[in-house]
Amino acid sequence: MRTQVGIVGAGPAGLLLSHLLHLEGIASVVLESRSREEIESTIRAGVLEQGTVDLLDRTGVGARMRREGAIHHGINLRFAGRTHRIDLRGLTGGRSIMLYAQHEVIKDLVQARLLAGGEIQFEAEGVGIEGIDGRSPRIRYRKDGQELEVTCDFVAGCDGFHGVSRAAIPGAARSEYQHLYPFGWFGILTRAPPSSDELIYARHERGFALVSTRSPQIQRLYFQCDPQDDEAGWSDARIWEEMHARLENVEGWRLSEGPILQKGIVALRSFMVEPMQHGRLFLAGDAAHIVPATGAKGLNLAAADVLVLSRALAEFFRSGKTELLDRYSATCLRRAWRAQRFSRWMTALTHRDQTDDAFTRQLQLAELEYLTSSRAASTALAENYVGLPIE
Ligand code: FAD
Ligand code: DHB
Repeated sequence: MRTQVGIVGAGPAGLLLSHLLHLEGIASVVLESRSREEIESTIRAGVLEQGTVDLLDRTGVGARMRREGAIHHGINLRFAGRTHRIDLRGLTGGRSIMLYAQHEVIKDLVQARLLAGGEIQFEAEGVGIEGIDGRSPRIRYRKDGQELEVTCDFVAGCDGFHGVSRAAIPGAARSEYQHLYPFGWFGILTRAPPSSDELIYARHERGFALVSTRSPQIQRLYFQCDPQDDEAGWSDARIWEEMHARLENVEGWRLSEGPILQKGIVALRSFMVEPMQHGRLFLAGDAAHIVPATGAKGLNLAAADVLVLSRALAEFFRSGKTELLDRYSATCLRRAWRAQRFSRWMTALTHRDQTDDAFTRQLQLAELEYLTSSRAASTALAENYVGLPIE
């Protein structure tokens, strides 16, 4: 098989790239190790930045998001027994966020690709990338017991943090930067009415908690936990007890409960690889960078990467010019480092680090007090939360 761009991974990065390339008249093949059912049901992100929402809308895949997603104009910070609203819209000249689940974005993109005759190979095993230093790189894989190969002009490594693409860049040609956090997030989905119209990020002595939502019937809740902890040790009763303790019944507010439909623990990590390109291989999304979930930036960074990449590839296939391709890594890294900065800061602002001394705990409260009482400081949070402009 031959195509212009071989894409490894059908997450948000790979699928959106394939869609954007199609709109530019560029052919691609997506190779995904999991099944369609699996990628369409994995519970992950929920917050889409204004720029991501606009991109999905502008490229014709935003209709269901508009119908079923919820626009939020603010978020809440809860600490020291009070709740403070950050007016995202008012502080950013009208920008907001959208609550719409990542797996719904995935469903919309898969459908759009298949309707347009796009090629997605699900359950592609043993993917290997070769020849990225030449003009015709190849992606080998196995499907239904057959050894297959895609020859292409470029390879896009969109296979997430645990994929194979990043390692295809020789070790001597890449630098990696990593920070591990001593905590993870315990996430649940519950069939319960919303407890709040807008997200609540809570800082509490027992640790961070977050109230988010998926639909008027399904709520998404998280609390900080030990990343080595085992979900099995958390009965439903214990989960609710912990959520109630951290969120408190501030100002008459109450957390609504319902049956727990799903639960899972994710570790928090910051990771960057530089550069994001080697020869004819371009990394995008979590394959190149991971941010701690607190800033809700990962999916949005993936979308920004592939927009930049699709424009650069379009210019190349139109004119043979490589300027935008040559700048791809630097352009994306600038945005990704800013998202790292913001995500790390939001994490430090709201999480309980057992190694912090009493002085550091007091500073964390002072930071929150300043943030919620200064328009300048609130604006800095708001403009990063709704998303910095895509260059
Ligand atoms: P992925 O979604 O990881 O997709 C990679 C794909 O490649 C997968 O389908 C995988 O199966 C496939 N793959 C892997 N290896 C191979 C291989 N060898 N061969 C073929 N295919 C392969 N981000 C936000 O912006 N907002 C949020 O609110 C938010 N909340 C989050 C909450 C949680 C609990 C978590 C865990 C993450 C959250 N994120 C959030 C981050 C977001 O989910 C990720 O950043 C996003 O999924 C990255 O997309 P991606 O396409 O780069 O990678
Ligand atoms: C959600 C995830 C996040 O990482 C976040 O910061 C806010 C909300 C969510 O899954 O709804």
